[in-house]
Amino acid sequence: MKSAIHSGPLRVGFAGCGFVTRNRHLPTLRRVKEIEVAALADLDPAALSEVADRYGVSRRHGSAESLVRDSEVEAVAVCVPVGAHVEVALAALEAGKHVFLEKPLALHLEDADRLVARAADFSSRVMVGFNLRWHRNLRAARQIVASGALGRIQSLSTVFSDPVLSRTGLPAWRSSRAAGGGVLLDKLVHHFDLWRFLLADEVKEVFTLSHSGRGDDDTVSVTARMAGGTLVTTLGMDDAFMKHEVTIYGERGGVHVDCYRFDGLRRYGVSDMPGAPRTRLRHFAAMLRESRASLAAIRRGGDFDASYDGEWRHFVESIRSGRPPECGLADGRAAMQISLAADRSRSLGEPVSIASGSTRVPVA
Ligand SMILES: NC(=O)c1ccc[n+]([C@@H]2O[C@H](COP(=O)([O-])OP(=O)(O)OC[C@H]3O[C@@H](n4cnc5c(N)ncnc54)[C@H](O)[C@@H]3O)[C@@H](O)[C@H]2O)c1
Repeated sequence: MKSAIHSGPLRVGFAGCGFVTRNRHLPTLRRVKEIEVAALADLDPAALSEVADRYGVSRRHGSAESLVRDSEVEAVAVCVPVGAHVEVALAALEAGKHVFLEKPLALHLEDADRLVARAADFSSRVMVGFNLRWHRNLRAARQIVASGALGRIQSLSTVFSDPVLSRTGLPAWRSSRAAGGGVLLDKLVHHFDLWRFLLADEVKEVFTLSHSGRGDDDTVSVTARMAGGTLVTTLGMDDAFMKHEVTIYGERGGVHVDCYRFDGLRRYGVSDMPGAPRTRLRHFAAMLRESRASLAAIRRGGDFDASYDGEWRHFVESIRSGRPPECGLADGRAAMQISLAADRSRSLGEPVSIASGSTRVPVA
């Protein structure tokens, strides 16, 4: 079926009025004039009316199935728990809508593949919500890597930690491995995508160590070898303090990104001594050079929040221009496959190559 086209802002309907919709997307979309939030849906009437009242949205639906049939809606944002992603996305495609699909694609590769195969029959755009690809400093780091200035990339190390498990009203699915929560699938899928995005390479094998405390796999360490030989390591935590950083080590220098700081990009020459006056002065000069862009990001809530603006603008651009989005279903599937292989490594206690990775989330 062909998607309906309206002039003016893209009219988006949100399926799911939970954490990501109320705390990330709807606040962001107040700043994105290319998008109008046309309708909201949730199975929980209290969540629906609370969010709809707060954002002044009058078109309200008691289910995603009803939302996708709303003729006022051009694109559907799939923001329900991962177990329902594929069915809602398929219903939206069948109804002729464009789809913004939150990560991860699905719980099982069979479901992801069903979506990928069916999506090929429609002209609608499908974009996966890897917002970190639009983080200003991560994009800059990617360009530096691609320019060859760092030489051969020896290693990439990342950390993504926050106190998710202390959040009031955390839904049960979010800390359950079987339901698709936990750090490996729900959180680190963002960084598995970043590995591919920053290094422009695919993952060959992964090894995972995990600890379960208040939630399944709430603390994990994943090590990997990329096809080109770069070694990668990522630490993910759902029950610790907030930290979100990426360091790239090249044979001729390095880059460090602190995703939560406006002056979060630091470049290092291969012999720079961190903390030495010369190094500090160079970083200070770089911060001054970047100050206009940093101030613009601060006005949008900082670079992390601004990454959501970026992904939404890109979604509209992709629809209006007819060009495929920078992260489509193939990227969503690739990152999810890394999560599943990492989870299999956790359960086997040995390295797992991506080709032999599991296609289902194990429950034990
Ligand atoms: N990109 C990001 O930064 C980011 C951050 C958080 C969550 N997420 C992703 O967003 C998705 C939602 O996460 P969340 O934390 O908002 O979850 P949540 O549990 O807080 O909210 C989900 C909402 O969907 C509703 N729902 C469930 N099935 C529905 C259906 N069929 N129709 C309509 N509503 C339905 C629930 O009642 C609930 O209110 C997940 O896939 C998660 O991984 C992404």
